Formats: sequence, structure tokens, C-alpha cells
Amino acid sequence: MSVLFSPLEIGKLHFDNRIFVAPMCQYSASGGVPGSWHLQHYGALAVGGAAAMTIEATAVSAEGRITEGCLGLYDDEQECGLAALVQHLRRLSSIRVGIQLTHAGRKGSCQAPWDGGGGLGPGGWPLLAPSAIAFGLIHQPQLAEHAVAHGRADCVAIGRAMLFDPRWALKAAMSLGVQPAFPRQYGLGSPRSWPGAAAAFPGY
Ligand SMILES: Cc1cc2nc3c(=O)[nH]c(=O)nc-3n(C[C@H](O)[C@H](O)[C@H](O)COP(=O)(O)O)c2cc1C
Repeated sequence: MSVLFSPLEIGKLHFDNRIFVAPMCQYSASGGVPGSWHLQHYGALAVGGAAAMTIEATAVSAEGRITEGCLGLYDDEQECGLAALVQHLRRLSSIRVGIQLTHAGRKGSCQAPWDGGGGLGPGGWPLLAPSAIAFGLIHQPQLAEHAVAHGRADCVAIGRAMLFDPRWALKAAMSLGVQPAFPRQYGLGSPRSWPGAAAAFPGY
């Protein structure tokens, strides 16, 4: 019996399991508005078996952005873009969708990581306040299971492992002996229906 894949209730919200996708900046917005990348990225995560996802840091003001590619929610076009993204996700699955509303404080006014991540300098905007983020890598399902089973956490937020593999939660279910929540379109992709899968996936 997996605790990681047991349901969780928080207030009135029900979660099918205890795997959440951590908020992860994509630095790919234009004027703070989500685009094709966001539809693809969050769409893949929506059918990956996690119970919930958090849309990346979304700035509450232009000065609150980390980079010029950060999402924003301070004008009408951004609001419409985020609404379209959520509608897209709702058509794909019933994953719970949250959003991280942020102000980047001292982390603001920077280049995207692939441009070096340095400060924008005079071409950027004034910094307003300090902020901090905690990190801790969980990539093994057994470690996630251990954390919730021993009461160290009610759920786990998976970041980098989800970027590497948006179907991390489906595979975690398999490795813990739980039936993965495959989207019905992917039913034939379940190793249960593969010839010879028993040898490749012992215990599943
Ligand atoms: C590409 C990337 C972008 C991130 N963006 C955010 C973010 O928008 N907001 C945030 O609070 N943390 C952000 N983080 C931190 C992650 O949410 C997570 O806390 C961190 O990666 C630790 O989890 P992990 O060890 O499973 O990756 C980011 C991490 C990565 C790798």
C-alpha cells in the first residue's frame, strides 16, 4: 500500500495522490503572456499522473519579474492568456492547477539562464526587496514515498525530475506497485499490455 499514492484532503480540496509539480519558471513568456511553450509544457505535465501542478512564478507587477520572459498577471492580456492556458489544461485532465503569484525582489531584472542569468543593469528595472527559495532534490519514488509515509510531509513537490520526465509520477506509481493513472489515450502505452513486460517491470 503506497502512502504517496493515497488521496489527500486539504480543506475542501481533494488530491488523488501526494505528488505535486513544483513551480518552475520557463522564462518563455512574451510581455508576461503564456504562449505555445506553456501550452506544451503544462499540457504534458497535466497528463503525467501528478495530482497537482503549480504554474511558475507569475509576477504581480512588471518590477516583480525575474526576467523579461517571466509570466505576469498585471494586465488584461496576461489575464486572458492565463485563462486560455487553464482552459487548455481543463480539456486535458482533472489535475489541480495552482499558480505562484510572486514578486522577485532582489532576484529581479535578470537575463534568462540560457543568456547567462546576469543582471540586466541599466536596461532593466529597479530592485525592490529581498526574497529566498529553498531547494531539495527528490527524484526517487522510494524517497518520496518515505517522506510522506513517515510523516515528514503530507505531499511532495517535484521540480527538476518533472522537467526531465513529465511522466515521472506515472513511472513512480509503477515502481511502487500502484496502478498508474494513464490517460485513456495512452492506455496501450501501459506496460501491462506489453508482451514480455513482466520481465522488464517486475512487480508491476
Ligand atoms: C527550471 C526551474 C525553475 C524554477 N522556478 C521556480 C519558480 O518559479 N518558483 C519557485 O518557487 N521555485 C522555482 N524553482 C524551484 C523549484 O520549484 C523546486 O523547489 C526546486 O527545483 C527543488 O525541487 P527539485 O529538487 O525537485 O527540483 C525552479 C526550479 C527549476 C529547476
